[in-house]
Amino acid sequence: MTKISAQIAEAIQNQIRMEGEASSSYLAMAYWCDDQGMQGCKQFFLRQSEEERMHMLKFYEYLSESNVKPLTPTIVEPNQSFKSVKDLFERVLDQEKSVTKSINNIVKLADIDKDYTTFEFLQWFVMEQREEEATIEGVLDKIKIIGEGPQSLYYIDKEIETLNQEIIKAEN
Ligand code: FEO
Repeated sequence: MTKISAQIAEAIQNQIRMEGEASSSYLAMAYWCDDQGMQGCKQFFLRQSEEERMHMLKFYEYLSESNVKPLTPTIVEPNQSFKSVKDLFERVLDQEKSVTKSINNIVKLADIDKDYTTFEFLQWFVMEQREEEATIEGVLDKIKIIGEGPQSLYYIDKEIETLNQEIIKAEN
């Protein structure tokens, strides 16, 4: 059975909270997009919200398997209003960067502790964060090219719809 230090357990409890907050935040974003008539973006964020919940559950399981009771965090109300779709995706990137920083910190703690089981467990998340940041940076690059003119929401949403199709294809 994996034995983890109190410090690592605490850091993972905090990670559970962050993943849960990300899931809730993406849900709010999905319905902000819905309100703007951006169905491609809505679907994108609904999927993201589910993914974050799945990340959260992976950390729950890891603590449980390590004989540490996972603590279910309080849901805090996420931001629900955005200035523009660009503002929204910039916030997503900031959020993902905070998650990456937090995961990297647990990797560092695991390395110091010579806890190679936790170190190995975290590698999936390290790669996942790399992928997520690259996806959002790609979206922001496209928004920059399309611009924020009168018809931009339509074209941005079309781009996200294409991205959704690519993600679905890659998953199957
Ligand atoms: Fe699970 Fe996007 O952080």
